[in-house]
Amino acid sequence: MERKTILTGITPSGTPHLGNYIGMIKPAVAMSAEDGRKIFYFISDLHALVKCHNAERVERFTLEIAAAWLALGLDPQRVLFYRQSRIPEIAELHWILSCVAPKGLLNRAHAYKALRDQNTAGGVDADTDVSLGLFAYPVLMAADILLFDADYVPVGKDQIQHVEIARDIAGSFNARYGVHFRLPRAMVGDAQSLPGLDGRKMSKSYGNTIPIFGPVDELRRSIRKIKTNSLPPGEPKDWQQCTLFELYRGFADADEIASMVRRYEAGIGWGEMKDILVDTIERHLAGPRSLYQGYLDHPQHIEAILEQGEERVRAIAHARIQEIRRAVGLRSPAHAPAPHEPHEPQQQA
Ligand code: TRP
Repeated sequence: MERKTILTGITPSGTPHLGNYIGMIKPAVAMSAEDGRKIFYFISDLHALVKCHNAERVERFTLEIAAAWLALGLDPQRVLFYRQSRIPEIAELHWILSCVAPKGLLNRAHAYKALRDQNTAGGVDADTDVSLGLFAYPVLMAADILLFDADYVPVGKDQIQHVEIARDIAGSFNARYGVHFRLPRAMVGDAQSLPGLDGRKMSKSYGNTIPIFGPVDELRRSIRKIKTNSLPPGEPKDWQQCTLFELYRGFADADEIASMVRRYEAGIGWGEMKDILVDTIERHLAGPRSLYQGYLDHPQHIEAILEQGEERVRAIAHARIQEIRRAVGLRSPAHAPAPHEPHEPQQQA
């Protein structure tokens, strides 16, 4: 049976937090450990430039993301792990796809539309702060995906539309030039989203995150600050609407979760629950934390790992882009056919 190709990108736009771990890193690493798949996980550093114009931050977050994934179990022998910016064929394909991607399709992309709507509501020009990169973001994502013939693209809900746009662009290309691209599908995991310090979804944009690899003291302090109701110990508690329980669920195994439900019903005290939570998270992360620190202390190890992945990926990308160039007419003049008869009307440039 043909191996399915799974591909996803990780944008280096912040220090990795527990929500990233439970929602994405943990399931993605688990999936990569299963046999029978070809896996591409890459750092979408070109996408990071859309929102972040600070070179130091882009570099720092790239280092932290690479170190975090490696420390949390990504095996670079099983996974093609690379930086998007080191595969120039992606940028080339981005342009080629731009020439078949309908502008109207991109007008409807959420991120762009949201910013335009916000501008309009604020009474300023609709395109204020809209860069061409923001507008073209889904086309670059399509290039990431289509170049490697991905079957499945694991993403969060907010990115499903982008994968659908990639499908549409592949369809437009295939209709014009013959079938060269596989149509990808979004794969939305069942990992629950983790609540943050304020009970809303843990997200950098809410400023309610707990870093994966902060010091234990900071973890303890953060967990202690999570608001609970004022039920005293001994009073039964509702585990179904509880941030502490949700966090616990992200790190505990099935037996532990079941017995914690009983302890809630028996009235566990909030202070005790917070201590258990810290210990449970810490049990998971103590080992990876020291690996993480080791990588940060030796960034040249990370560079070497990424370069090895990039060499393998470039070989694949190179072969693919030859095919695409041929399809659109970018081969050497030695391949040029005789003039077309009758003369085809040319599109306006
Ligand atoms: N845009 C995605 C995000 O911010 C990251 C990404 C870039 C991606 N290229 C991709 C995800 C290709 C899947 C496939 O989450």
